[in-house]
Amino acid sequence: MTRAIADIGIYGLGTMGSALALNLAENGFQVAVTNREVEWIGKFVEQAGPLATTISPQITLETFVASLKAPRTILFMIPSGAPMDAMIEAVMPFLDDGDTIIDGGNADFNDTRRRFDRLNGTGAHFVGMGVSGGEKGARNGPSMMVGGSVHSWTQLKPMAEAIAAKFEGEPCVAHLGPDGAGHFVKTVHNGIEYADMQMISELYGLLRDGGGWNAPRIGKLFESWQDGPLSSYLIEVSAAALQTIDPDTRLPMVDVILDQAGQKGTGRWTVIEALKMGQSANAIEAAVGARGWSSEKGMRNAAESALGAGALHADMPSEDDLEQALIAARIIAHAQGFRLLDAASQEFDWSLDMARISEIWRAGCIIRSALLDDLATAFRTDLPHGHLILSPKIAATLTQTMPALRRVVVAGVSLGTALPALSAALAWYDSMRRGRGTTNLIQAQRDFFGAHGFARTDKDGKFNAQWPDLTSERS
Ligand code: 6PG
Repeated sequence: MTRAIADIGIYGLGTMGSALALNLAENGFQVAVTNREVEWIGKFVEQAGPLATTISPQITLETFVASLKAPRTILFMIPSGAPMDAMIEAVMPFLDDGDTIIDGGNADFNDTRRRFDRLNGTGAHFVGMGVSGGEKGARNGPSMMVGGSVHSWTQLKPMAEAIAAKFEGEPCVAHLGPDGAGHFVKTVHNGIEYADMQMISELYGLLRDGGGWNAPRIGKLFESWQDGPLSSYLIEVSAAALQTIDPDTRLPMVDVILDQAGQKGTGRWTVIEALKMGQSANAIEAAVGARGWSSEKGMRNAAESALGAGALHADMPSEDDLEQALIAARIIAHAQGFRLLDAASQEFDWSLDMARISEIWRAGCIIRSALLDDLATAFRTDLPHGHLILSPKIAATLTQTMPALRRVVVAGVSLGTALPALSAALAWYDSMRRGRGTTNLIQAQRDFFGAHGFARTDKDGKFNAQWPDLTSERS
């Protein structure tokens, strides 16, 4: 007979599952663990060292569930997609009313909504929880974005708050809404992560290809930005990566890494969901697209021979301009992400709390930065109409830094160095700050060839114009 002594069960002892289990154990919780490949379980217990005393290894799913205190909390850290569906069906027969199962992977929030509905009415609860911070974050303090029922949150909260990253003592975890809310927020977090990584890489490219700087010199410049408003985990990582030397070749490590970026899907999902909701997070789109282009290595090599990537000559922007440009573009990428969260909140009736989201992104997660503290203050204090770029403080920073972004984009264009995400951010800003855009001509074109109708500036209603008949004029 298995004794029900564990506070939480973790199924899946890969990198993230193991790290979370150790974090929970270190915080005094009794953790039951199991894994599909049973040989991993013993290895994990060995690796746990003195923490093994609060870990209860289980070989079968049945004893794993039986070893948990009721109402049970089971965290699945397994690949998203079909494996999660299979595990839900496998574990359901062992669950009782009030038990909660949590998917802590990077799941598509549409799947999370479907799984939430699957469990609805069974007595058991389903939670989609985004966990950010990689292996180190999971071990020492991740940022966690929790969806699902209030019942599940009440169960999970003490454990989640204990293991979460802390920002000035505040745990970076929150219950953000029902069903897919947690996974949606994590997806958008990753979309912003993609844009930020891309923008930093674009500045690296400009300095390398336009300015002839070597990697360590660029790394040093990025490192100096850590003392200012750009202070962030991704700048820190980039600065350190650029200054790392490959032991085999003694060349900068980045110079021996193939320029083909991988992606697991969250950036793409951000863009897909944005488009589905009639939004465009174009800085994020540019970042996802650039990873796609990067994988076309053969085509790019052929095009370089055929079309030439020869140097164009233009002045390089100043170091100060590069820093200011990234401040501006980073704000825009975040503004686009939060705009998308707002659209989803309305569409799915989630009542997402943007201030809370910015707060739990201030530590533990990959996009943690000094900016997020400013955004949290903006959302808490002075935000008219919920749009970040209308916050007086954010607007003042944009007014100050945008000229630098403009100069950097001009330099990239003149030097023939692609800056897709930085120029997307600039295009969005220039579109948004102009009350009268150019889609009046799009409406005219639509009405011209398809009688789609248009609204007028001077009277209410839907109108069609008498456009000239081009066929009869030509004949
Ligand atoms: C995080 C990260 C993480 C993500 C990796 C890789 O918040 O800890 O977002 O969840 O899996 O960054 O993502 P890609 O393979 O799509 O770049």
